[in-house]
Amino acid sequence: MLTKVISAFLFVSLASVASLAQASEPSVAAKEQAARDASLKEKFPEQYKSWLETSEQTEREDMLASYPAAVILWAGSSFAKEYHSPRGHHFAVADVTHTLRTGVPPKAGDKGLSASCWTCKTPDVPRLMNELGIEGFSAKNFTDVGTEVNSVVYCTDCHVDGKAELALPRPHAQDAMAKVHLPFDKQDNNMKGAQVCGQCHVTYYFQPERSNKVNIPWIFGNNVDDIEKYYDTRRFYEWIHPISQTPILKARHPEFEHWSSSKHADAGVTCITCHMPETKDAKGNTFTSHKVSKALDHFDEVCQSCHRSEQKIVSALENNKTTINAKAREVEGLLVKAHYEAAAAWDAGGTWSQMNDAIMAIRHSQWRWDFAMASHGLYAHNPELGNTLLDTSIEQVNYARHLLDEILKKFDVKSVSYPDISSKAAAHAAVGIELEKLTEAKKKFIKEDVDKNWSEVSRHGYE
Ligand code: HEC
Ligand code: HEC
Ligand code: HEC
Ligand code: HEC
Repeated sequence: MLTKVISAFLFVSLASVASLAQASEPSVAAKEQAARDASLKEKFPEQYKSWLETSEQTEREDMLASYPAAVILWAGSSFAKEYHSPRGHHFAVADVTHTLRTGVPPKAGDKGLSASCWTCKTPDVPRLMNELGIEGFSAKNFTDVGTEVNSVVYCTDCHVDGKAELALPRPHAQDAMAKVHLPFDKQDNNMKGAQVCGQCHVTYYFQPERSNKVNIPWIFGNNVDDIEKYYDTRRFYEWIHPISQTPILKARHPEFEHWSSSKHADAGVTCITCHMPETKDAKGNTFTSHKVSKALDHFDEVCQSCHRSEQKIVSALENNKTTINAKAREVEGLLVKAHYEAAAAWDAGGTWSQMNDAIMAIRHSQWRWDFAMASHGLYAHNPELGNTLLDTSIEQVNYARHLLDEILKKFDVKSVSYPDISSKAAAHAAVGIELEKLTEAKKKFIKEDVDKNWSEVSRHGYE
């Protein structure tokens, strides 16, 4: 009996070694797709050329350096290690490969980070989902799939193979649009355009009970309260905060959600209107620019058709940005304090029945702050929503701190010590993140594995 189990085990592990060895050899489907992809370059040269130009959008911001408090709020998750603002689509694969968030391969036999992290970077993912099954794909380790990734945000991410017709190749995105009663196939071209962006620019989580497949939590709707209700009724959390013990919710780039309830959406102005303007080629024929980039760079072509005064719009945006940023910094300061006050209350002997309401208020406050912060264009996409989210977040964290204050008084705790968050390095030190060690391990993996075995797209901007 025992030998049978052992030999079965050996068989499985040998089989998986064999399938890993084959992984560096592209599958037939991958080769076919590569050939079809290449043909689109000749068929649609203007779209191809402008698509290629996203490779020049190199700029990005180190958000943890700009807002070190976020290191404390995300402590216990990989977001606390590294987090940048987005840049050109051409960098998507290389950036997810190089970020400290995706780490290094797990030790043999250990479960690593899910391959789901590739989902919004490449059309190789819908292909792999077809080949392996949706959960077959998501159950793989992130690093084991690297050699399969040959292209970055490319034509078939948004189009029916080889055609101008739009498509939504990710099954979870199809499901999500149906959940909010906007099934992709039934939409006009305008809404289809917004939805192709929304398949990636949307909040999501990995469903633990479904092999970490990507799920978009919109069963009750796609505004901040509906999504919170979804998570709360499932008692879902992404991680337990190591300082305050709060079960944390994490928002991720909810551009589609913000846009959905905006004045622009009501007026039929979509992501495409602002980020992919109509352009003319050398012969004067119009085509859609595929250099998806900053909207304000195209003020004249895009905004001016509806807003005559550039000065007025630019100053409105500046005002929105200043107000929203100031509120976000205020929430961050308050939430850092709340996490440490909760820690002090636990240390003093707080019980769950005493702490529950305060901890839930921290959870809900941080969720709203994150839902605002995890998207970089909120001040332009939906400033009213930005203000409401952060105002509510401030109320909730103040409520949490009020409850904590009472608990601390009960235990006669006179003072709480707060961390130094004056810089990213100080915040990292406060939560025990050793950046140099992590960076060194990452560099070794990049040099010995990625640079040797992965495709060129995984190195764009790093050579
Ligand atoms: C991120 C999504 C996305 C990607 C990637 C993408 N497209 Fe498009 N494409 C669109 C959208 C949106 C439109 C506008 C559709 C509309 O409004 O009718 C469009 C329009 C087109 C059209 C119709 C003519 C025109 O210019 O409006 C062609 C042809 C086209 N794309 C080809 C391509 C090719 C070739 C690639 C790969 C090099 C590509 N697209 C990559 C989203 C994308
Ligand atoms: C397959 C997933 C995917 C699709 C589809 C997609 N994006 Fe993106 N987008 C990304 C990722 C990932 C990044 C960040 C890349 C990075 O920073 O490395 C990004 C970055 C961006 C940026 C930042 C560009 C810059 O230079 O700062 C804008 C703007 C943007 N996307 C708009 C859109 C719009 C509009 C659409 C629809 C036409 C769209 N995206 C479709 C995944 C996608
Ligand atoms: C009314 C025009 C408008 C619409 C509609 C719009 N955006 Fe934007 N978006 C902007 C502006 C303005 C900014 C601020 C920075 C810039 O692009 O100039 C921005 C910023 C962004 C950013 C952050 C870019 C960065 O590098 O920080 C992303 C990503 C983005 N938009 C994606 C989308 C997506 C996806 C949609 C549709 C769901 C959308 N936008 C709809 C105008 C628009
Ligand atoms: C097709 C028309 C159209 C285009 C194109 C358009 N807008 Fe708008 N914009 C509107 C409408 C309609 C409103 C809502 C007016 C209102 O209700 O006060 C609006 C409102 C705004 C506001 C007020 C803030 C808000 O959302 O409440 C800003 C700022 C703005 N637009 C910026 C831009 C920028 C920047 C661009 C170009 C990237 C742009 N718009 C392109 C139609 C447009």
